[in-house]
Amino acid sequence: MAKLASPLCAAPSVSQKRIVQAEALGWLAEHPAPPGASVITSLPDVSELPELGFEGWQTWFVEAARAVLRWVPEPGLCIFFQSDIREGGRWVDKGYLVQRAADVEGRVLLWHKVICRRPPGSISHGRASYSHLLCFAHAPRPNVSHPGPDVLADAGYKPWSKAMGVEACRLACRFLREESDTTLVVDPFCGHGTVLVVANHYGFEALGIERSTRKAKAARRLVLNVDEPRNG
Ligand SMILES: C[S@@+](CC[C@H](N)C(=O)[O-])C[C@H]1O[C@@H](n2cnc3c(N)ncnc32)[C@H](O)[C@@H]1O
Repeated sequence: MAKLASPLCAAPSVSQKRIVQAEALGWLAEHPAPPGASVITSLPDVSELPELGFEGWQTWFVEAARAVLRWVPEPGLCIFFQSDIREGGRWVDKGYLVQRAADVEGRVLLWHKVICRRPPGSISHGRASYSHLLCFAHAPRPNVSHPGPDVLADAGYKPWSKAMGVEACRLACRFLREESDTTLVVDPFCGHGTVLVVANHYGFEALGIERSTRKAKAARRLVLNVDEPRNG
């Protein structure tokens, strides 16, 4: 007798990623977040939006961070990965810019981690040798039991120059898995989609928005080995 498929012995569900090629802020405005959504993202640098000029980019950056923070539904979390730059003889602290946006939107900083881009002690004349990883919530969480490390010595493998490293993505996803009810990870500026692949690895559905057709294609194709490092 032929065996009937039973829901009890069905294949385990595999998390999916979906990439939408669109302008992120317009897309967010038209698509309210579903329950269970959290964001892990990295807003574009001034070098990626040269048409705005420095002052225009800075204003855009804070407004974009505000829009992303507003979009995430309670009790979802919003995690930003940003690297400081030197621009025209001044230091641009993107961690500060994101926190300005969070202040205006009334969000709470749960943690602020430092991800080394180069070994501590390195001298850098361009981009900072570290990145910020900041996590915001709607309300304080006094009982976090798996905070993760405050400093990561290496961001991990990057599929392209502006990517969040795999280890930084892993740190963010582990926190979401252990400390939230997130089911969907959204990256509204997904680039080549590093965050999305790692999110799938941790069992989340993943949705990326990307303005560039070429990068959206790369994000659809990206496959990574996200296995735990042997010493990690
Ligand atoms: C810092 S990169 C993101 C890197 C990505 N997290 C990764 O790991 O591959 C920022 C991305 O935002 C995209 N972008 C810039 N402006 C955009 C917009 N208005 N809407 C959607 N994507 C945009 C850029 O094309 C770029 O790929």
